Amino acid sequence: MSEIHALDAAVAAIRAASPGVAPQVGVVLGSGLGGVADAVADAVDIPYGEIPGFPKPGVASHAGRLRLGTLGSVPVAVLQGRAHAYEGHRMADVVRPVRTLARLGCTVIILTNAAGSLRTEVGPGRLMLITDHINGTGLNPLVGPNEPALGQRFFDMSAAYDPELRDRLAAAAAAERIDLAEGIYHWVIGPSFETPAEIRAFRTLGADAVGMSTVPETIALRHMGVRVAAISGITNLAAGMVAGSALDHTETMTQGSAMAGDLTRLLTRFLTGWTDDA
Ligand code: HPA
Repeated sequence: MSEIHALDAAVAAIRAASPGVAPQVGVVLGSGLGGVADAVADAVDIPYGEIPGFPKPGVASHAGRLRLGTLGSVPVAVLQGRAHAYEGHRMADVVRPVRTLARLGCTVIILTNAAGSLRTEVGPGRLMLITDHINGTGLNPLVGPNEPALGQRFFDMSAAYDPELRDRLAAAAAAERIDLAEGIYHWVIGPSFETPAEIRAFRTLGADAVGMSTVPETIALRHMGVRVAAISGITNLAAGMVAGSALDHTETMTQGSAMAGDLTRLLTRFLTGWTDDA
């Protein structure tokens, strides 16, 4: 089946399960951040298992459902959980859910993730607005024949994280008195955490945070001309930064749920009075 047919099938299943619902903004919730979905009003839930072509997220903390409803004053589509490349999913499967949101009508998509910080002054519990990324994997969801119905073969990535959306998110954070950091996200494949030597290398390259998601989604969405913003929830200082401490996924979970509150306020403020007038 071509990718376009796969996307059409997913869109048709969602429309059938949510008649009359027309989301404008998409949100992808990363590890531990699923609580943001609790703030969505008039929610209609569709488990990924009921949407053809959607991969099953393997990470225990990911709910694996699409929630449609209203956040702020905007009709939204919230993906609660994502599939990761480290689970063995094909890149096309990893990005199919966000491509589906785009074809459902979302012109703006906010990606969120859990990440390790490379800066001691941006510690666990902080939110970081992603200003740019470094693809440290050598993977790209667009390898293979181009699908012209989605976008062009070659396209610009110089403002991948939409400057105007970043300004609005920074303003929303200030209004909510949330101390929003800004920085560059380095995508690693995982699932092993990094070595201290890798973290030193990434810092030299210009990275501020490191994580195992988001970048393939940004690439696939920019290909389609969708406006992207992305926010990391910092769950830990990266490997080697805290002497004598080892990294583990429970940190991602506990810090993540604490940050979900800030992220909910940030996104609700951002989406109150929202119009995509760009
Ligand atoms: N490295 C990679 N991914 C992560 C980390 C990390 O330190 N923390 C949360 N996700």
